[in-house]
Amino acid sequence: MINIISQIRRIGNGKRSIVSAAAVLLMLLCTLFLISCLSTDSVTVAVPDIPGAGFVGNETCSACHEQHVKEFSFTTHARLSVPNARMAGSTGCESCHGAGSLHVDDGTGKFIVNPGKSPQACFVCHLDKQAEFNLPFHHPVTEGKMNCTDCHDPHGNDIMKPRQIAIAGMNGTCSQCHKEQSMPYIFSHEALREGCVACHNPHGSFNKKMLVENDSNLCLKCHAQAHTDVNAVRIGRQNHTTRIPRGACWTAGCHTAIHGSNIDTHLRY
Ligand code: HEC
Ligand code: HEC
Ligand code: HEC
Ligand code: HEC
Ligand code: HEC
Ligand code: HEC
Ligand code: HEC
Repeated sequence: MINIISQIRRIGNGKRSIVSAAAVLLMLLCTLFLISCLSTDSVTVAVPDIPGAGFVGNETCSACHEQHVKEFSFTTHARLSVPNARMAGSTGCESCHGAGSLHVDDGTGKFIVNPGKSPQACFVCHLDKQAEFNLPFHHPVTEGKMNCTDCHDPHGNDIMKPRQIAIAGMNGTCSQCHKEQSMPYIFSHEALREGCVACHNPHGSFNKKMLVENDSNLCLKCHAQAHTDVNAVRIGRQNHTTRIPRGACWTAGCHTAIHGSNIDTHLRY
């Protein structure tokens, strides 16, 4: 970025402007290219294979699964379409369930993929999620004890409903299974307003308890304080100079009630 800015300044000065402009353009193009790679390389559109079946389009499903098709139009996946199906914008259902012609002709529920039974149907496109679920600490999805649909609603317009988890939404997705961490406390930790994902990666992590950081940096991303006193580390107006070396804020025997406490305002127990 600094480079680009200095290039632009040089253009402002008038000389060598054509060369500089070309360089700037090249750099911008490279950046754009990189950004576009970063945001799409995790999602390749591959469709579960059902031998012998052809694509029929969402409207055909509607005849027997009206409710699913109705809700579906607002979701991200509704915009997906199978590359060679020549029905742009209308093969969203089949991008997860596979081509539907045999299923429709048969009419008894066979010849269709149900990703609720295996996350593989999601992984064909979400390769990065497969990688996260292979990290040492993860929800037991690849072990078959849980599924993507425990946290994501694939059809409704709330596929991201876990995102809305806040202190006010105690009946959020995580709280179905983790009541202790999501219940209201007398001294609540306001961090939870940003959702459980402020500290946990629900898909998987290198760190124990699926934490996004394994040390005090987890806390300092919100509790960092400007240092006015060079000899002391102050966090939350308290001098933490001798405390920081003892370990992470929650493992050093200090803030063990990290999700909230009924007895201590500093979340110690
Ligand atoms: C993002 C992938 C995805 C898309 C797109 C998708 N589904 Fe599903 N579908 C699933 C999953 C996952 C399940 C299993 C749900 C469960 O087990 O709770 C499922 C289950 C179903 C079922 C079985 C009954 C049920 O609700 O469990 C039907 C019928 C169905 N889908 C129809 C459709 C139709 C019709 C569309 C298009 C309007 C569609 N699906 C689009 C992922 C998807
Ligand atoms: C002629 C009626 C009919 C049409 C059209 C139809 N289905 Fe089905 N489908 C059924 C029946 C019957 C079942 C079994 C009972 C149930 O789960 O509702 C079923 C079940 C399913 C299941 C669950 C399968 C399982 O193993 O659990 C999925 C997924 C599904 N359909 C997807 C689709 C999709 C996607 C389309 C459009 C491409 C579609 N269906 C079109 C009749 C139909
Ligand atoms: C055919 C490819 C494909 C399949 C199969 C698929 N997805 Fe997606 N999914 C996508 C694409 C493309 C996006 C949009 C990605 C983006 O914008 O970066 C997406 C986005 C998402 C999002 C984010 C939605 C949002 O609004 O931000 C979630 C959550 C998601 N998928 C879950 C699933 C789950 C769970 C399954 C399996 C039941 C699944 N997907 C199957 C292609 C797919
Ligand atoms: C334990 C709950 C949970 C499970 C299980 C889960 N997810 Fe998620 N997922 C979330 C939450 C929470 C977010 C929002 C993350 C955020 O806002 O940082 C999310 C976000 C996503 C996104 C969009 C944002 C991103 O990180 O790219 C995709 C795609 C996704 N999940 C796919 C999947 C797939 C595929 C599966 C199953 C293999 C799955 N998830 C299983 C909770 C879960
Ligand atoms: C359908 C139930 C279910 C949902 C929903 C769920 N979890 Fe879990 N969670 C589990 C299970 C099962 C484990 C694994 C427990 C084990 O291995 O002993 C787990 C483990 C964890 C752990 C690690 C615990 C440990 O001892 O290592 C954390 C952290 C966690 N979940 C956070 C979340 C967050 C955040 C959400 C919401 C985005 C969420 N969970 C949603 C069932 C669920
Ligand atoms: C401020 C950061 C933060 C937020 C926000 C947060 N957690 Fe945690 N969570 C932690 C830390 C740190 C641990 C590890 C505590 C330990 O090892 O004793 C943990 C541990 C857990 C565990 C494992 C508990 C155990 O006994 O092993 C679960 C389950 C969990 N969190 C669920 C959640 C849920 C659900 C939410 C949202 C309601 C949430 N967390 C929000 C920081 C957070
Ligand atoms: C997402 C941002 C965020 C993260 C991450 C976070 N906190 Fe907080 N925390 C807050 C906010 C906001 C408050 C309330 C305002 C305040 O007191 O600074 C708070 C309050 C606290 C309090 C109570 C302050 C008091 O009155 O004594 C403690 C203790 C605390 N946090 C410890 C931690 C620890 C330990 C971690 C790391 C495991 C952590 N926080 C991570 C946002 C965060």
